[in-house]
Amino acid sequence: MDEFRGLARLPKFAVPKRYDLTLKPDLVTCKFSGEVRITLDIVEKTKYIVLNAADLLIRHASFYASPSQQGVSPSNITLVEEDEILVLEFDYLIPINGEKKNMAVTQFEPADARRCFPCWDEPAVKATFKVTLEVPSELIALSNMPVLQEKHDGPLKIVYFEESPIMSTYLVAVVVGLFDYMEGKTLNGTCVRVYCQVGKTDQGKFALDVAVKALDLYKKYFAEPYPLPKLDMIAIPDFAAGAMENYGLVTYRETALLYDERNSAAANKQRVAIVVAHELAHQWFGNLVTMEWWTHLWLNEGFATWVSYLAVDSLFPDWNIWTQFLDETTGGLRLDGLAESHPIEVEINHAREVDEIFDAISYKKGASVIRMLQAYLGAETVQRSLASYIKRHAYKNAKTEDLWAVLSEESGEPVNMLMDSWTKQKGYPVIYAKLEDHRLEFEQSHFLSSGLTGDGQWIVPITLCYGSYNTRKNFLLKSKVGDMGLSELLHESNFGLMGKRTRSDTSGDWIKLNIDQAGFYRVKYDDELASRIRRAIETNSLSATDRFGVLDDAYALCAACKQTLSSLLSLMVAYREELDYTVLSCLIDVSYKVVQMAGDAIPSVSNDLKQFIINLLQFGAEKLGWEPISGESHLDAMLRGQILTALAVFGHEIALSEAINRFNMFVHDGNTPLLPADTRKAAYVAVMQRVSTSNRSGYESLLRIYRETDLSQEKSRILSSLASCPDPEIVQEALNFLLTSEVRSQDVVYGLAGISTEGRDVAWKWLQDNWDFISKTWGSGFLVTRFISAVVSQFSSNERAEEVEAFFSSRIKPSIERTVKQSVEHIRINAQWVKSIKNEPSLEAVVKELTYRKY
Ligand code: BES
Ligand code: ZN
Repeated sequence: MDEFRGLARLPKFAVPKRYDLTLKPDLVTCKFSGEVRITLDIVEKTKYIVLNAADLLIRHASFYASPSQQGVSPSNITLVEEDEILVLEFDYLIPINGEKKNMAVTQFEPADARRCFPCWDEPAVKATFKVTLEVPSELIALSNMPVLQEKHDGPLKIVYFEESPIMSTYLVAVVVGLFDYMEGKTLNGTCVRVYCQVGKTDQGKFALDVAVKALDLYKKYFAEPYPLPKLDMIAIPDFAAGAMENYGLVTYRETALLYDERNSAAANKQRVAIVVAHELAHQWFGNLVTMEWWTHLWLNEGFATWVSYLAVDSLFPDWNIWTQFLDETTGGLRLDGLAESHPIEVEINHAREVDEIFDAISYKKGASVIRMLQAYLGAETVQRSLASYIKRHAYKNAKTEDLWAVLSEESGEPVNMLMDSWTKQKGYPVIYAKLEDHRLEFEQSHFLSSGLTGDGQWIVPITLCYGSYNTRKNFLLKSKVGDMGLSELLHESNFGLMGKRTRSDTSGDWIKLNIDQAGFYRVKYDDELASRIRRAIETNSLSATDRFGVLDDAYALCAACKQTLSSLLSLMVAYREELDYTVLSCLIDVSYKVVQMAGDAIPSVSNDLKQFIINLLQFGAEKLGWEPISGESHLDAMLRGQILTALAVFGHEIALSEAINRFNMFVHDGNTPLLPADTRKAAYVAVMQRVSTSNRSGYESLLRIYRETDLSQEKSRILSSLASCPDPEIVQEALNFLLTSEVRSQDVVYGLAGISTEGRDVAWKWLQDNWDFISKTWGSGFLVTRFISAVVSQFSSNERAEEVEAFFSSRIKPSIERTVKQSVEHIRINAQWVKSIKNEPSLEAVVKELTYRKY
């Protein structure tokens, strides 16, 4: 008890949530008496509750673990007058947050319904389901269908649900627990509910709104009403995936469903909208029409991903969500650049192999090739085809060919022939574009991030513009090479919609391929074309999507040693006045990677390179500042956070001290307007840059906020900052914290995402030391793969690649095999890049020149 004497601030073992205060003033004696009941969250195991009190006589105190339980009196009640604190000491540790209440939730996809009941657990074997649950009377019981009848039987109730339409086993679901809900209705009266933990219903409002509108929208788009009588969506506090589309009962992580006006960031809001739109798209695409076998998983996931953007674009037109879609495409291109990638349609012999293909190929490449096809066939044709596909296969199953069949019928194009090269073989092409004697020459080759050339060949929908978006040409590149005269290009365009164009001198005009980045391929321009494009970016002649594509392709080619780092850096200079959220985020991602690899290659270049990037970000940083600008766009709110976080990571002194000041205000007063949710991550990362073993207070403050908040998005924001510290010992401590009971299993992934370069060696050691525990705890799901990829993919030497390979060789299991191979390949690619950077003798001089040049 003495340890509490003389403390400046109260220890935060317990956090008050509500005071019920009764006072009885006696106006004759000028004394008062009273009673206070304080509802608490106990956030740390403790025998003490310590709070302020002064000049009071405490007659009695009791602790109730829950309202229905007996009160317990403290063994000691001490009022320390000089410190104005009241210490209640108990004989035992107070249980955290009172009595722990469990809930029950199912997750059957892909192949776990068989762990709940014997069944034909394959997606093509559909049947109806009539579920009955026997549960304690006070709990809520949910399943795919509405309740038909409830019978009470003592402390239990028997809940009978209506019989479902025919559906696949992996979509069956039940949930039992204590929840609150809020409710809305679609235009045709379908009842939609959002269930969440008691007391959090306000946070369900945004998702409910999106859901109601999305159902109306999909009904129109698919020309088919929502097939079930109700839709429930429910937030589950510990959930491996982001969300699961169970028919009529969609389960979510809290971060993917709940939105808090005050403490959620714009990025959190967007995530909720995308996930809800994705899961509800599955109600048609996946649930009503189901893939015939897991080989066609991409039909489910690629489509839902693509359609979710369609819906979000319609609901939030100012989010430019189709530009942001390029993050999906890049994610697909990155994974598919590995030799250890796989085709979209992948042979699955056993259901256990399915887990590993819930990956960027099925989701991101899948969604991207659909976007590519839509750009080729036209939006209306695609919509008509999808409606007819849904009608034709409703309550049944379909294969990839069935989708191509309707698209062929509606468009008159041989879609099967066009698409096979994209879905049946892995990888994608890079198109080499070269100007030769007034002719534009094309050559496709199978792009690999290793720099090697694969043996794939594709039917590539080439689009290009010449000097302006009005001069456009589209054609299919069916063979390895092709070419076209420039005059032909201009001439043909004269007959275009835009009327006759008169241009005397076109010799310096830019040529951009893959307009809007609608195609799933990369482009490598020859030097002349590349410098014209760079000029086009500087004169702001290209769209945001095209600016993104030029940068991302250049980065990928550079990482594959197909162009020098110096040339990438000079291209990056052309983006110094960039303000588009997606493009600038791409620039920042590229910067993180470049700083790391160049730093590994030539340590002495690091500081100048960081300064170079800080300079590039100045324009955006000055425009956006730290405070929200009234009426600003959603995208600016997201961009501010990204820029400030990057400035903190790259060590911009002013940003760091500003961040730390604002953080200190926030620690003092959680309601301060100085640190709104959108900039909190930046401040947390900044704080962690300055934390070390001798200066831990920022780290401790973050842990305190983590313990006190009950908003999952706030917790994940903190977890994703902790390991970004440059002090390896703190990184180690942060990683150990991830394995404690204070971090839910689902949340460890956030902590792994932010490991600093300085921390990567301890992280690898930590992973090896804790592998048995990690494998035991996470090994039955797909989250275990994240431990591997997050920890090792920062390495850049062949020795590390061998070490990783050797470590896992005796620990390999089918569920991690692909990830280990991909991660090792990734390290080798990094190693090769680092080697090639070392061979760029002029790099240091170039960086200096670019950094300190006046523009
Ligand atoms: N069907 C998946 C959930 C799933 C993932 C089940 C892996 C089994 C294994 C769901 O529709 C989904 O794709 N969820 C995504 C979110 C989405 C917005 C990309 C997820 O969980 O990340
Ligand atoms: Zn999905």
